Amino acid sequence: MIYKNIQLKKYNTFGLEYTAECMIKIKTEKEATALFNGTVAWKKPLLILGCGSNILFTSDFQGTILYPELKGIKIEEQEPDKGNVIVSAGAGVNWDDFVAWSVNKGFGGLENLSLIPGKVGATPVQNIGAYGVEVKDQIVKVKTISANDGSIRIFNNSECEFGYRNSIFKKREKDKYLVTRVYYRLTVKPSLNLGYESLKEEVSKIGKETLKNVRQGVINIRRSKLPDPEITGNAGSFFKNPVVTSSVAVNLKGGYPDMPVYKDQEGYMKLASGWLIDQCGWKGKRRGDAGIHEKQALVLVNYGKATGKEIYNLSEEIKKSVHEKFGVDLEREVEVVGVI
Ligand code: EPU
Repeated sequence: MIYKNIQLKKYNTFGLEYTAECMIKIKTEKEATALFNGTVAWKKPLLILGCGSNILFTSDFQGTILYPELKGIKIEEQEPDKGNVIVSAGAGVNWDDFVAWSVNKGFGGLENLSLIPGKVGATPVQNIGAYGVEVKDQIVKVKTISANDGSIRIFNNSECEFGYRNSIFKKREKDKYLVTRVYYRLTVKPSLNLGYESLKEEVSKIGKETLKNVRQGVINIRRSKLPDPEITGNAGSFFKNPVVTSSVAVNLKGGYPDMPVYKDQEGYMKLASGWLIDQCGWKGKRRGDAGIHEKQALVLVNYGKATGKEIYNLSEEIKKSVHEKFGVDLEREVEVVGVI
């Protein structure tokens, strides 16, 4: 189905009021194939949109937005000898509905990723992560349709080239494949991941260490720290946590003993952008309707009528001040689309 001159407010969690020239909603793989093998004409450039929870529009979009609505959750395969089950979900399934379904079935592996806004199709693109878990550890394969010719291509886990909030679908194959279905390996006898101290504490307040309580613990923490995009526009973490060499981290820690640092791959450490931004005094600050959340400095918010450009400019100011104070360059996690 092709729509013209679409208001994007409800298609991006910042609630920005730009328009798109065209939008195509896709409900089946057949429709996607017809779109890409030349049967249906559409205007370039193309932007594949999940629920717009990781995007900052800075102007109207002159092209076609593809909005996948492929549904369905299936148990594909039991692996009883390994205690696993393979399940799949359509790209258009709401991510948290899928997590809730898996927890209700007693399948483990996704519970720490509860309440992350977005759709299933975005999870391999972004390699979503929270509370010590990244979705790459559960993804078996990703079914896609090539935007080049409409053919089906399956990417197995290693072909997805997953990294921290990164994958092949964000790098050199960006917007070249439409994800239609994602396959996850879950455990039938879950081993819980409570390495994240504040999650362990929250779960102990709720009760026993069960799958359902871990999900509830994550939900409680997220609700207490992160603004609900239905109420205050935001896109979760605006910046990635920077990865620096261990020597840079050790030097910084010398000057700022309270600074959180996390182990990363050999020779590197990850810093906490939220802490760095907070130390620069940004928490709770506002520039008109663009602001920094009062409980988590990594989250930029739209208090109502901010424009994408205003949020972008605020993010530039933040980057500059973190660079001046700590010599660390922040990289945006959110994708900026439009004229700056
Ligand atoms: N901190 C501050 N001030 C702040 C924010 C954080 O001092 O304003 C400190 C915290 O006290 C903590 C550290 O910074 O010591 C890290 O903060 P937190 O545990 O809240 O996690 P984060 O690193 O800010 C990451 C992910 C989140 C994910 C949480 C929980 C990124 C970019 N963000 O945030 O993911 O939910 O860990 O695992 O990796 C997202 O990607 O949109 C997202 C919300």
